[in-house]
Parts: sequence; structure tokens; C-alpha cells
Amino acid sequence: MKNAFIPFANPGAAFQARKHEYDEAFSRVIGSGQYILGPEVETFERRFAEWLADASCAAGDCIGVANGTDAIEIALRALQGLFPVPSGKLPAVFTVSHTAVATVAAIERAGCVPILVDIDEASYTMSPGSLEAAVNMVAAERPDLAPMAVIPVHLYGHPCDLDAIMGIGERHGMRIIEDCAQAHGAAYRGKRVGTLGIAGTFSFYPTKNLGAIGDAGAVYTGDSALAAEMRALRQYGWKQRYVSAIPGINSRMDPLQAAFLDINLRHLDADNAARRSIAARYDALISRATITPPVAKPEVEHAFHLYVLRSKRRDALAAFLHERGVGTAVHYPQAVHSQPAYAGRVIIAPDGLPITERVVPELLSLPMFPQLIQADVERVAHALLAWDKEQSS
Ligand SMILES: Cc1ncc(COP(=O)(O)O)c(C=O)c1O
Repeated sequence: MKNAFIPFANPGAAFQARKHEYDEAFSRVIGSGQYILGPEVETFERRFAEWLADASCAAGDCIGVANGTDAIEIALRALQGLFPVPSGKLPAVFTVSHTAVATVAAIERAGCVPILVDIDEASYTMSPGSLEAAVNMVAAERPDLAPMAVIPVHLYGHPCDLDAIMGIGERHGMRIIEDCAQAHGAAYRGKRVGTLGIAGTFSFYPTKNLGAIGDAGAVYTGDSALAAEMRALRQYGWKQRYVSAIPGINSRMDPLQAAFLDINLRHLDADNAARRSIAARYDALISRATITPPVAKPEVEHAFHLYVLRSKRRDALAAFLHERGVGTAVHYPQAVHSQPAYAGRVIIAPDGLPITERVVPELLSLPMFPQLIQADVERVAHALLAWDKEQSS
């Protein structure tokens, strides 16, 4: 019998396995009569905050919102409310070009100016050197901008070099908002990401480590004033019902999604353990001859949202794997600064983005989801070995 095609991601596998739990939650929410915010959302917010803080710090506040893009926008708007930049200047926000476009879209939607910096060649996350150079450039050459925040993106589940980035933030009076959309459960020096900056933003897109059955997102913060501002912003700027204290938006988490997320949160540690064990198996089987597997730096715990390898013949490798029944994906085919919406107008670091440009055409994501069975992991790894053999013959 021909082997079935191994998909790159399969959110339906988790949802099918837990269907009876979702059915129960679905009936409970319908019976509750509360379909916007309310106790289901509050319960999930509290449990997710406690899970993030773990034993390493007192739990802060979690604010459930409609998606991960809104989470970033709301965090940036709240920062501007609490720490306004000098009048006549626009707030500058530093992030990477090698990210989901959502990070940069949210910065612009919040009325800030994105400045895109390069990445570190080993972890594919923000380069502190490129960040520092970009901040110095803005200070020297752009009197119209006021550096306000840095958004390090814990891409693929690998935490950024937060010690260095937070040090730069402190020296230049900028706050750190961690984009944790791909890093639920990743840790930096023993602390879960999202709890180290002034705020951490999350997406619960269905394929994420913690996914909803639709769109949802959240912001975590240990700062109660920021939490109050964000809570108001997600609902028309209300601090009191029907009275907008500040101009806000509508970005409320749906109680049905909150109930589903609460179920998946109970499975998250086991799901992340499964992802790490798949990554370890890939690591063990992949030959390094023509393929560079991902790294996990010693100070981090990788959440393996994605297992991304590097190959000079990426597209040929993807086609070779596809022929052998292995699905792959590319994250991302174009860095943000090269995409039509941004090319030529977005500000980039003074030395350009040479590592981003070198790395982007070589990245390929292998199948990675907790329900991926051992036999399929072996099939993927053996297809990679066959590729290596073919390349070296
Ligand atoms: C790094 C990153 N930031 C932000 C987002 C935005 O999340 P959402 O799709 O929930 O708006 C995503 C989701 O793809 C992401 O991967």
C-alpha cells in the first residue's frame, strides 16, 4: 500500500482527538447566554497568565483579543497612551524584516514607524548589533522620530537574545514588546517568553502551539496600568460601559474560542513535549552534509512551532520531498522589506539586511505538529538522507 502524504501541518488532528471536550464546551457556552467576553474569557485569561508566569514570577494580566495582529497594535497603542513621545515626533518601533508581515502591519496600524533590522545567522532572530546600529541611525539622522519600542519576534519558537535586546532598550529608553505568536512555551533563561518585556503578544491561529478553532489572540503584561489601558482599548476605549475614555477598537476574544483555548491549554505542555521530541528525532537523523538543521542556543528552550532547515537548493529539496510524500512550507518566501506593500518605503538598518537576504531563499519548514507519528518522522528523515545521498553522488 502506498504511504499517505505527510502534511506539513494538521490542526484538524488535535481537534478531532479532542472533539468530545470541544462538544462539551460548545454546549456550555451556548447554554451560558453570554457570547461576548464574560466568564469563559476571564477564566482563560487567568489560566493562561498563570501558565505563562509559571513558578518564575507572580502572574500578571492577560487580555484576550481577536487575533495576534490586534494584540501587537493594542500593546503599542497602550504604550503611546502611557508614555507619549514628544509632540511633533512619530514613535519609531524596531523589529525584524524576517517575520510574519503581521508584526509590521500592526506597527503601522498603531500609527508608529517600523524600522526593520537584520537577524542573527544561527537563530534567525533579531540581531542586537543591527538593532543598536539602527537606533543610533535614528537618533543621529531622524529628528522627526522618537525611538519608543522594540518588538523582538521569537520566530519559529526560538527565543531572541533578550539580554542584549533589553539592554539596548534600557539604554535608549525603549520598551520591549515580545512577539510570541510562534513561541507559546518557549523559555529564555528559565522564564517563559512573553513575561520578560513590558508586554508579550500571542496569536492563537489554529496551527500555533496553542491554537483556537478560528482567530484569537492575547497580550500578557506584568504592568497593571498597561493592562487597564489595553483592556479599554480592545473595547472602544471603555473604562466604564458606554463611555469611551480613550479612542479604542473592537477586538474582543470570543467566549467560544476562550473555552476551546482553555482545553488546548491543558494539553499544551504535552503538545510542546511532542514537538521537542520530533525535533530531537529529526536532529538525530538528519545528515549535515547539505542541510543545516535549526539550533537551540544554550540559554533557551525552543518551542518548535516550526522545524526550519536551511539548504542552498531549497526549492529542489522541497520538490524532492513532495515526490516522496512529504509536505513542506516556506516561512517566509519574501522578507517584509521586499514585499510590494513595503519595498522602497520602509526604513531599514544602516548596513542593510544582508543576513536576512542570504537566509530567506534557503529556509524550508518540515512537517511539525504534536500528532505527527513516529513512523512519519522517520519517513521524513529518511527522505532527507536520500536527498543527501543523491547530492553527494
Ligand atoms: C510572528 C507573528 N506575529 C504576528 C502574527 C499575527 O497573528 P494573527 O494571524 O493571529 O493575527 C503571526 C501569525 O501568523 C506571527 O506568526
